[in-house]
This record gives sequence, C-alpha cells and structure tokens, in this order.
Amino acid sequence: MELRPFTLDDYDQVIALWRSEPGAIGASRSDEPAELAKLLARDPELFLVAEEAGRVVGTVIGGFDGRRGVIYHLAVQREYRGRGLGRALMEEIERRLTERGCLRAYALVFEDNEGVMEFYRRLGWERNPVACVAKNFGPSQTTRR
Ligand SMILES: CC(C)(COP(=O)(O)OP(=O)(O)OC[C@H]1O[C@@H](n2cnc3c(N)ncnc32)[C@H](O)[C@@H]1OP(=O)(O)O)[C@@H](O)C(=O)NCCC(=O)NCCS
Repeated sequence: MELRPFTLDDYDQVIALWRSEPGAIGASRSDEPAELAKLLARDPELFLVAEEAGRVVGTVIGGFDGRRGVIYHLAVQREYRGRGLGRALMEEIERRLTERGCLRAYALVFEDNEGVMEFYRRLGWERNPVACVAKNFGPSQTTRR
C-alpha cells in the first residue's frame, strides 16, 4: 500500500470512489478536473491517494489557508475498510498540515453521517459546537460541500 500525491491520471478512479459514497462525499462542481487543477496548483502534496496494486483505494484532501486546516473527501474503498487505511491517510495529512505550520484543522461531516464520528473520535478529533454556513459563488448549483 502506497500513499502518494494525486495526479490527474487518477481522476477517473477517484471520482468513481467519491460517487460511490453519495451520502458522505458525492461529487460537486468543485470536483471537476479543472477545479481540482486549481487545488493542485495551490499545494499538490495535500491531495493524497492510497494505491494498492495500481488501483486507487483511498483518498484525502487537506487544505491550509495559513490559519486553519480543513479535511475533504476522506474515503476508503469498502473492501479495504477496517484495516487502518483511513487512519493512515489521516495521520499522513495531519503530518503534512503540521509541517506547514497548521495548528488546528476542521473536518466537515454531514449530520446524517453519524457512523464516521466514532472514526474521528478514535483519531483524537472532537465534535465542534459550531454550525457551518455555506454559500455558492458563480452560477447557483445545489452542492452540499
Ligand atoms: C471513514 C472511513 C474513511 C474509515 O476508513 P477505514 O479504513 O475503515 O478506517 P480505519 O480502519 O483506519 O479505522 C480507524 C479506527 O476507526 C474505527 N472505525 C472506522 N470506521 C468506523 C465506523 N464506521 N464506526 C466505528 N468505528 C470506526 C476503527 O475501528 C479503527 O479503530 P482503532 O484504530 O481504534 O482500532 C471509511 O469508512 C469511509 O470511506 N467511509 C465513507 C466515506 C466517509 O464517510 N468519509 C468521511 C467524510 S467526513
């Protein structure tokens, strides 16, 4: 199992993984190749994939704006779950955020994705008593994240 930065060659596998979890992740206009290219231009080392035998089996995206970090699109293929891969992806992205000077990070979890809260709790993350407000810029489109 290798953790490495995403490249656009991984796109089809990555988008299929995200679409396989419509309730937790899904795919929005921010997941179009041109939008992901913007992310890569900013920091290509904060978008990680887990690869096993040439296949992408996990993803995580980290963001750092100079103050806080944020975690997006943490996902592990169903048949690879329960083996520590989610933990490994999070530990690596936390290490990379820390290396950049990040002191605190957020992960956005849909309220109806209760199952994942225990995963975060075991990794030392705590429920934060804040509500998240969001606004789309540009052409209006329904998106959850
Ligand atoms: C969340 C997710 C990435 C976890 O991946 P994983 O590889 O199965 O996680 P790990 O095997 O590394 O588990 C790490 C720890 O969390 C626990 N855990 C993982 N998923 C859990 C769950 N659904 N409920 C309770 N505990 C869970 C494991 O038992 C393990 O505990 P331990 O290290 O103390 O023994 C995976 O379930 C997933 O892709 N879910 C769908 C997408 C999603 O919800 N992403 C999060 C968006 S915010």
